Order: sequence, then structure tokens, then C-alpha cells
Amino acid sequence: MNILILGGGGREHALAWAVMQNPKCDKLIVAPGNAGIAQIATCATLDIEDRAAVVNFAEAEAIELVIIGPEAPLAAGVADRLRDAGLLVFGPSAAAARLEASKAFTKEICDAANAPTAAYGHFTDAEAAKAHVRAQGAPIVVKADGLAAGKGVIIAETVAEAEAAIDDMFGGSFGAAGAEVVIEEFMTGEEASFFVLCDGESVLPIGTAQDHKRVGEGDTGPNTGGMGAYSPAPVLTDEIAERAMAEIIRPTMAEMARRGTPYQGVLYAGLMIKDGAPRLVEYNVRFGDPECQVLMMRLGAQVLDLIHAAAEGRLADAQVNWGNDHAMTVVMAADGYPGSYEKGDVISGLETLPEDSFHMMFHAGTKLSDGRITANGGRVLNATARGASLSEARDRAYALVDGVNWPGGFCRRDIGWRAL
Ligand code: AMP
Ligand code: GLY
Repeated sequence: MNILILGGGGREHALAWAVMQNPKCDKLIVAPGNAGIAQIATCATLDIEDRAAVVNFAEAEAIELVIIGPEAPLAAGVADRLRDAGLLVFGPSAAAARLEASKAFTKEICDAANAPTAAYGHFTDAEAAKAHVRAQGAPIVVKADGLAAGKGVIIAETVAEAEAAIDDMFGGSFGAAGAEVVIEEFMTGEEASFFVLCDGESVLPIGTAQDHKRVGEGDTGPNTGGMGAYSPAPVLTDEIAERAMAEIIRPTMAEMARRGTPYQGVLYAGLMIKDGAPRLVEYNVRFGDPECQVLMMRLGAQVLDLIHAAAEGRLADAQVNWGNDHAMTVVMAADGYPGSYEKGDVISGLETLPEDSFHMMFHAGTKLSDGRITANGGRVLNATARGASLSEARDRAYALVDGVNWPGGFCRRDIGWRAL
């Protein structure tokens, strides 16, 4: 099969690495890719949010399956356009991608599906939103409705903070994403991520993970895209996963199908778990990054069969072969991230690292310059490893970190502390 993966982060390197190992993969192109992906697949320059350009490229390269990594092309309707052109795609339509692209839409679906989630109000003007906040009190959560690159959520400790966040959002600091605001009850508990594949009708769980969003050790400091992750998430027991399927995921999928916008692709549910019960925090319509890295490390080559089955509507007959294993990924980021940082540092030592089914250094923001790997982003490398226990996976992941020479980079040394 000729396969095209859209995206160029650690998530797409991990997807490419797993897909490549499957003998069904004849040719693999990743657009735009990165320096690590270029070592295992062909990278192509392509504007992945330009629907016509993606269709033309896929047709010219005789692509038989397109796997869409990030949310932006999904929200832009790239999957719709590819399907209209008769191509096989893994990823939801723009209508189904609203589960990530609009928080108000997700709340409305949860209401219709009777899925447990935080109580909320949805507002299109600041005064009504502030009156709601004053009536509810703090802590309270203020969210820009649209896609805001993970920055559109403010956990306000006081009413004044919530009011300031509301003014900020309606004042345009999140662009169009902030034209509508959702205000939510602050939920307490432990967060975990649950990943399922959907083919419009059937749903297949493919793993759980937990990530570390804060930049600093002990989960302190500003939020980031994720500084590390591990799988499985011990808090998401089989019993809680079963409840999440029965109370949240399946009813959501049934509601999407009932509305004529069935969901096909991977669905990533952020769950808050308290007293043995899961509640939905949010949906994402793609794999998490860096959560994908640990899922791919555990699933390996079979992921292509599963993705192919989801794209063709055959998930009812598919099953996952589970190993009794654990995986961890440690993000190496440029000094200064998530604030401003330098690009262009040379990174050495990568060629000395083991690369096998237990160890992989996935690349995120890297670039090849004059034959050398250089840092080209905030999150740059993902030291990823698998073991019989989480502590074995951790020791292997940090051994990868320690084999890299990059004075301008840093990582958290405590990934997995909660589970260990
Ligand atoms: P989101 O972009 O919706 O995932 O929100 C980002 C993060 O904010 C989540 O991963 C949670 O840690 C936190 N969060 C969002 N909504 C709530 C809520 N209603 N209660 C508590 N924490 C929340
Ligand atoms: N690591 C969180 C995300 O990809 O949204």
C-alpha cells in the first residue's frame, strides 16, 4: 500500500515508524516530515491545510491511504475533500472534527448523549459571561470556543481572574477562537487520556496514557504541549475504561452518527477520574503529541492494520494484540520553551543511540542543515522506550536522553512520578 502521512512532529515520526514496520506498507511519504522522519520515509513539501493541493499530491503519488496527524487539516476539511476524490482516509470530516474545533459543540453533544462532563454555560457576550461567573463563584474554567493551540483554557482561581480572562477572550486575544466562550465548573480528580479508533459505527480502544503538561518538575510552571507521557495510565483501570466506553464514548459516537456526521478516525478523550467515575474534560480528534509516541511504541506494526480497518469501516472485526508492557516518552525541548527559544543548535550523539522495538528517539522540531541535525522548534526530541515495567521503560528513556549532546536543550527528569 502507498501511504501518505500529513504532519511533521513527534506524533508523525512515531506513526511513520510503526506504519513502516508493517509489510503492507510499500511506499511511505510524510508531508512535511522532519529530519528524523527523513531517515525512514520520503518527506515532501506540501501545504497540508490546502485541500486541493493535498488531493493533487495524493493522486500524483498514487497514494492508497492518507493518515492525517494534526487537527488543523481536519478542521479545514482535508479529509472530506480526499474522500470526495475517492481516496481512503484516516481522520474525521470537518463536521465531525468539531468535537475538537468547538468546545460549545462538544458540550451540546455531551448533553444530547447524556455523557458526564463539567456543568457549563455558553456565551457570545462578555457581560452575560461575567454575570454567570459571579453567580457561580471560583475556581471556574474559562475557555475560548475554537482552536487556540492549547492556550484557550484559563483555570481562574478568583472571580476577578475569570472576568479578566473573559475580557481578554472577547477582546480578541484568541482571534476568532474567542468570539464565543464556554464557562465550566472546575472539576477535581486525576486526568488521563483514553484513545479509541472509530469507523463511524464501531469503536475500538487502543490504549491509555497520561502526560505532563507543565514545563517544570513536580508539575509546576507554565503549560506546554506536553513534556512527557507514559502508557498505560494506571488510574484508568479496565473498569473505568469500560465505564468511559459505555457512558461517554459510545453515546457520543451514536449521537454523531444520528446527526448524519459519523466519526471516523482516532478519538482522544481527556478524562477526569474521581471516586472511580470518569467525566469528559475534552475531546481531540487526533492522536496526542507526545501520547502517540508511547502508544506507537506499544502497538508497533499492527497499528497500520487497525488504521486501515477504521478507514474501511471494518473495525467490528478488528482486535488489538496487547503486550503486557509499559512505555514512556521524555520530551527534550529548547531552553526557554514554552516561551521564546533559539533555533539552529547542532545536536550530536543521535547516531550512537539504540533504535529497536524497545528504544526510539522520535524527532519533533528538527532539521537537517549541512548534514547535521539541528534544533528547529520548541519541542525537539522525544526519547521513547518500552519495558516490562514503567520503571524499566523510564530507565531506558532517560538512557536515550543521556546519550544526546545538546547543551541548549532541557527535559524534565521526573516523567511518570505519579505512577512510579
Ligand atoms: P482542554 O484544552 O479543554 O484540554 O483544557 C486544558 C486543560 O485544562 C485540561 O487538560 C485540564 O487539565 C484543564 N481543564 C479543562 N477543563 C477543566 C475543567 N472543567 N475542570 C478542571 N480542569 C479543566
Ligand atoms: N499532549 C496533548 C495534546 O496533544 O493535545
